[in-house]
Amino acid sequence: MFTQALLFLLSITPLSSQAPLTKRAFSNGPVITSNFPDPAFINVGGIYYAFATSNGDQNVQIATSPDFDTWTLTGSDALPTIPSWSTGKVWAPDVVQLADGSFVLYFAAASSTNTSLHCVGTATSSAVQGPYTASDTAFACPLTQGGAIDPAGFADSDGSLYVVYKVDGNSLGGGGPCGNGDGSYSTPIMLQGVEADGVTPVGTAAQILDRDAGDGPLVEAPSLVLVSGTYYLFFSSNCYNGLEYDTSYATAAAVGGPYVKASSPLLVSGGDGGALNSPGSATVGLGGAQMVFHSDAVAGNASLRQMWTAGIKVSGGVVGFS
Ligand SMILES: *[C@@H]1O[C@H](CO)[C@@H](O)[C@H](O)[C@H]1NC(C)=O
Ligand SMILES: *[C@@H]1O[C@H](CO)[C@@H](O)[C@H](O)[C@H]1NC(C)=O
Repeated sequence: MFTQALLFLLSITPLSSQAPLTKRAFSNGPVITSNFPDPAFINVGGIYYAFATSNGDQNVQIATSPDFDTWTLTGSDALPTIPSWSTGKVWAPDVVQLADGSFVLYFAAASSTNTSLHCVGTATSSAVQGPYTASDTAFACPLTQGGAIDPAGFADSDGSLYVVYKVDGNSLGGGGPCGNGDGSYSTPIMLQGVEADGVTPVGTAAQILDRDAGDGPLVEAPSLVLVSGTYYLFFSSNCYNGLEYDTSYATAAAVGGPYVKASSPLLVSGGDGGALNSPGSATVGLGGAQMVFHSDAVAGNASLRQMWTAGIKVSGGVVGFS
């Protein structure tokens, strides 16, 4: 009798103690506790793959997850060989899958013409984890405007492909936060159409956003998604190494804009019950339901930027958390 009763209790206990199913990882703290800045992610065959800025050991870091919550660093390098136009310092990668099943890695890396400025490059692979082979031609390299960083791919509903990136105007160095304290440099977010190969430009790049007084020295880190006919352009404002760094978004009815900025940021320092420090450089996945971003482990110290995940809800031009 006793054994039967115990077995019965054991069998019902998991049901009665189940956590609410709506809870996502947002309040669970960082999911990668080592330095994993400027994260992006893709889901391939039910597995999540995240990619991040160089940690010194790998040019492009990789982590994998079966469920978006539990992540494991692979320790391998998605881009073991940098292209001849670059000297390294690989930042802010993003990966997309093409219709033929192959993959494109977008990244920023220091220009060999001027190593203090970055350009955007492309690399391709038949496998999501690479190794990716970089093109020997930079994709976007406007050195006189400060170079280009923070590329991200986007596929429109009609199948047209685009790359968004930031013209890194503040790197021209005017002083103050991120070299643009007086706001004298433009830091436009650009939209560049590409062919079905994901890498060959179609026409010229168009500006779809820029900084204004409310953004401090810059806007950067664009990530574009389409949900129910509205384009959501996520971006960060302010300098990454200050507490004002944040995650915001702008919306438009057409891919080329005009984009209207939301009235207040989505993620700010002190958010999530005080846990977030300079939360930015977000990437939003297909469908606008999942987001990765980085937050500093210690307030005001950007040398350890940890990856967080959030379930988000994108509807009617407004972004919230699920
Ligand atoms: C590289 O670019 C920076 C920013 O414009 C400039 O100050 C510096 O002189 C440049 N260096 C070279 C070697 O051209
Ligand atoms: C910032 O954090 C790193 C460790 O991530 C530490 O080595 C460094 O001393 C910290 N800097 C300051 C100014 O506290």
